[in-house]
Amino acid sequence: MKKTLAILMALVMVLGAFTFASADEVKTYKVGISIYQYTDNFMTLYRNEIADYFKTLETDTVKYELVFADAKNDMAEQTNQMNNFVTQGMDVIILNPVQTSSADVLIDIAVSNEIPLVLINREPLAYDADGNTIDEAYEGILNNPQVCYVGADARQSGTYQGELILATGNQGDINGDGKISYIMIQGDPENIDAQYRTEFSIKALTDAGKTVECLDSQVGNWDQTKGQELCANALTVHGYNVEVVFCNNDGMAMGALTAIQTAGRIVGEDIYLVGVDALPEAVEAIKLGDMTGTVLNDHIGQSHAAVDVAVKLLNGEAIDNYYWVNYVKVDKAYAEAQ
Ligand code: BGC
Repeated sequence: MKKTLAILMALVMVLGAFTFASADEVKTYKVGISIYQYTDNFMTLYRNEIADYFKTLETDTVKYELVFADAKNDMAEQTNQMNNFVTQGMDVIILNPVQTSSADVLIDIAVSNEIPLVLINREPLAYDADGNTIDEAYEGILNNPQVCYVGADARQSGTYQGELILATGNQGDINGDGKISYIMIQGDPENIDAQYRTEFSIKALTDAGKTVECLDSQVGNWDQTKGQELCANALTVHGYNVEVVFCNNDGMAMGALTAIQTAGRIVGEDIYLVGVDALPEAVEAIKLGDMTGTVLNDHIGQSHAAVDVAVKLLNGEAIDNYYWVNYVKVDKAYAEAQ
């Protein structure tokens, strides 16, 4: 009896020591993630996927403590959040900047505190000596081995939008007057995605030898309600002259669709509508024929790339300064195959 008790006690001690030791070996990394604005449909999908993907990478010995912050489209708020991340001792920061033109301030906070930084979705732009933006890598990223940008080349998404219109039966010229008459609903003009999509969607048409006519081009700030309002106004002013509605994102395209339907217009018959992102509701609309097409802004690929590089930084591995994820054209056939 005494012997059994002794064995039991020894067992308990060994087990206890074992549990204690393994608890000791668990490494928890703190990750600060600031998103420019939680109400953004696309960034909501992106942000949720960051959380889900980090979970899948956890092991018995490696955990990730994620601290998300909503910058509420306010640069001052986001600067505070970055400073808080420093105080909280974050091991790495993932940042979706509110104002790319002020990216230096945010990068400096991370770099001067030796916290690796992964910028996502809103690409800071390079400037020339006169302060004009140029198509070159950003020095604040390039010169810092622990800073990188993960995103998609918005020129590609714009080109795909134009190609979706060229793929329609009458190549966007519904009334056969020899020109494609369109309205453009733009995202936040500070965002390169908005600038490039506006430019390259039309460039795809003119590169194909088409004549184009811009009836209206307005800023909808990525917002569904604003998209609806702008499209409704343009349809009231220009009526059936509007052949194509280009929206820089699907959020605004969903708003435009409501305006189109309220005006009694029919997508695919007397008007075309394209967006970018491939939000689930947009893919549904394409299947129903209520939208001509969209472009997949791969939030899964981008969030996984961002998390993977954050993990590399945590492990002290060398990284690239830029990571690019491809867009994918989404027409009816593609949407139906989903
Ligand atoms: C998306 C928009 C989103 C924006 C936020 C873009 O890439 O297409 O839907 O509002 O990013 O920065």
